[in-house]
Amino acid sequence: MAFLENETIYLEDSNGKRSWVKVAYGMIKVPSLGAIDGSRFKDLEEGDIITIVGREYTVFRPGVLELMESLDRGAQVIIPKDAATILLHCDVKCGDKVIEVGAGSGGLTTALLHAVAPEGHVHTLELKLENAQRAQRNVARVGLDRHWSFAIGDAREMPVEVEWQADVLTMDMPDPWLALDNLEKHLRPGGRVCAYVPNMNQAEAIVTALRERGYSNVRAMENMQRALEVHPGGVRPSFDMLGHTAYLVFARKRSGNKV
Ligand SMILES: C[S@@+](CC[C@H](N)C(=O)[O-])C[C@H]1O[C@@H](n2cnc3c(N)ncnc32)[C@H](O)[C@@H]1O
Repeated sequence: MAFLENETIYLEDSNGKRSWVKVAYGMIKVPSLGAIDGSRFKDLEEGDIITIVGREYTVFRPGVLELMESLDRGAQVIIPKDAATILLHCDVKCGDKVIEVGAGSGGLTTALLHAVAPEGHVHTLELKLENAQRAQRNVARVGLDRHWSFAIGDAREMPVEVEWQADVLTMDMPDPWLALDNLEKHLRPGGRVCAYVPNMNQAEAIVTALRERGYSNVRAMENMQRALEVHPGGVRPSFDMLGHTAYLVFARKRSGNKV
């Protein structure tokens, strides 16, 4: 399918460097590449090559991975290895309604929105206006803001103004166990919870709180991912590794009904 006006796409050079473009069928300014005649994108398909000032670039639509890697970062973001685990363990899918605590830079928000769109919705509770605004710019840049709302306040006590019960509740905040009283009534029975905490004492506190509240399948884990360097005649693990990001705690809400 040809590229449409207002689509956000990227051009990849032979070194894998990406330049981002918002398609318009007139002259477009692309940082570091200069001005391009945007009408050329009308005749291109994904994976085609475009030559700009003698250099070749492959044209792609972004997936969630590239969107997350290209965020304007402020607060620490949840990176793809953890976001992927959250999406799977919380079974996040098109049409789901999600309550998220902690917009930060919009890293996890981007992954959640990408999964629930175009039918679902993510509502994010964030303490700091400047973080919510950065996340808003990040999700608007790629057109996912249509499925997003946010409210500023403390998730431990603020009113949650949504007219639905969520399928999923994610909490990237220092003390998620203190937010359960306020938030769990907005999660449907059978809904899934994820807490994302960097320290073991926090993981213990949220696991204990979820067990005491009767949640099902409460579990904690950590994700480690190491790249491989693959070269002719030599294949080895990369020397660089992000050893620890955070612990992921998952659980599922019971209804409490007995029949
Ligand atoms: C590490 S950042 C979240 C990063 C985000 N998940 C991402 O992937 O970009 C944590 C965020 O939680 C917010 N926060 C911390 N405590 C909070 C609370 N009690 N209520 C709402 N937001 C809170 C912080 O202001 C911060 O923006």
